[in-house]
Amino acid sequence: MTAGRHFETLSIHAGEEEPNPKRALNCPIFMTAAFSFASLDQADAAFAFETDDYVYSRGNNPTLRLLERRMAALEGGADAVAFASGMAAISSVLLSLLKPGDEVIAHRMLYGSAWNFIRNILPQYGIGARLADLTDPRVLAAAISEKTRVVYFETPVNPSLEIIDIAAVSRIARERGAKVVVDNTFATPYFQRPLELGADVAVHSATKYISGHGDVIAGLAVAKDAEYIQHLKFGYLCELGGVMSPFTAWLLLRGLKTLALRMREHERNARLTAEFLARHPRVKKVYYPGLASFPGHAVAARQMRGFGAMVSFDIDGTVEQSKAVVNRLKLFKLAVSLGDCESLVQHPFAMTHRGYSEEEIAAAGLSPSLIRLSVGLEHPEDIIADLEQALSVLN
Ligand SMILES: Cc1ncc(COP(=O)(O)O)c(C=O)c1O
Repeated sequence: MTAGRHFETLSIHAGEEEPNPKRALNCPIFMTAAFSFASLDQADAAFAFETDDYVYSRGNNPTLRLLERRMAALEGGADAVAFASGMAAISSVLLSLLKPGDEVIAHRMLYGSAWNFIRNILPQYGIGARLADLTDPRVLAAAISEKTRVVYFETPVNPSLEIIDIAAVSRIARERGAKVVVDNTFATPYFQRPLELGADVAVHSATKYISGHGDVIAGLAVAKDAEYIQHLKFGYLCELGGVMSPFTAWLLLRGLKTLALRMREHERNARLTAEFLARHPRVKKVYYPGLASFPGHAVAARQMRGFGAMVSFDIDGTVEQSKAVVNRLKLFKLAVSLGDCESLVQHPFAMTHRGYSEEEIAAAGLSPSLIRLSVGLEHPEDIIADLEQALSVLN
């Protein structure tokens, strides 16, 4: 049993059940494919789900189980499932909630692979996909139909940092019998708990802040309904096979212990970075929910405990000039992914989001030269100095 109720305590202790073997302080990495039974009767009871005995690590493993219980506690959910990647979590959750003839409504701007899965792969299985501007709940109210079984979005959105009102969207979806799935990767449960705001499932690329160190690919899904999690795990994860390695789970348990600390520091650096960019004469627009001038700020202030550390911006210049700025950065590494200790920079519409057409980028109110920053944990003066020297290429 965990003593404590605060996030910092739960991220270190939640889900502990019993002394570890040899009373090890940290949960061992149960690096085993199968678990043995003392008798066929014991095996029979485990296969019938009458006991919690472990069978095979594609379905269940003690190191993963601790991570799942801990994440469920942090997200305010009943239970969780660990996956091999964020995309394994997203694709499995969507497949588990949709069948041919159904429809998903997703926000028009999404992480590139989620967008591709929804727009191009689900329709191959007879599942309709509609993209809409979910920053305005009235758009959802007008678009939703009896075929809509799932409403899917990220908030803050990658890479536009738009904010979607989770409670308002969830109210509309619930009235129409649709499930709400929120990608909580950018905020993490430290800053935002979608399930408490009415969402049914929170999904994560745990590759990002939950790991925090850029050394694993991992995903998680958390839900309020423990029966649904059982169905997702044994009806989908187990059959589709995108299972997390126990070693990855152990690294994530380690990452979670410092999540609150890291997020507070990431956010401070991001706020200082966004404020610097907003003051810079060659920066046209800054996308950061923590800026009072940002359109989603009021909703973010209501539904988040902090604004996160992802910042996008447009320079006052051409696409070529924005590439020159990116190429000149030294401390910021030019790389996809986010949430690492290292500050990272990328050009989403040339990299992670390159499937979007110019018309789709314009319809989302963005420009092809958008620069996205994952503000890291270096000293903020060094982060800002790097941006300052890179932007001086425009002088
Ligand atoms: C918001 C968001 N969701 C999901 C994913 C996919 O996660 P993974 O790369 O762990 O499969 C990413 C990856 O960048 C992401 O940024």
